[in-house]
Amino acid sequence: MIIAVTNQKGGVAKTTSTIALSGLLAESSSCLVVDFDPQGNLTTGLGIKIQPGQMTAYEVLTVISKRYSIYVL
Ligand SMILES: Nc1ncnc2c1ncn2[C@@H]1O[C@H](COP(=O)(O)OP(=O)(O)O)[C@@H](O)[C@H]1O
Ligand SMILES: [Mg+2]
Repeated sequence: MIIAVTNQKGGVAKTTSTIALSGLLAESSSCLVVDFDPQGNLTTGLGIKIQPGQMTAYEVLTVISKRYSIYVL
């Protein structure tokens, strides 16, 4: 099952809902959370520190995909 939490508007509880939902799902099975927001609040909200220069999903969608002509659909 894949659940996408998306809305162009900020401050509508996407991150909060995702943290709560993933925590609930992880209680009964494995749950992979992918943070596509360049702000990375979901990542830090789950207690993970992004190191300076570390690649994130945002770089995959922008810098790397442009450099190697990769199209992300
Ligand atoms: N159910 C809720 N009740 C009250 N405040 C909430 C609720 N869900 C989220 N918030 C608050 O709303 C703000 C925006 O939430 P956030 O999840 O960061 O939104 P988004 O990821 O869509 O930008 C945060 O300050 C968060 O604490
Ligand atoms: Mg957010």
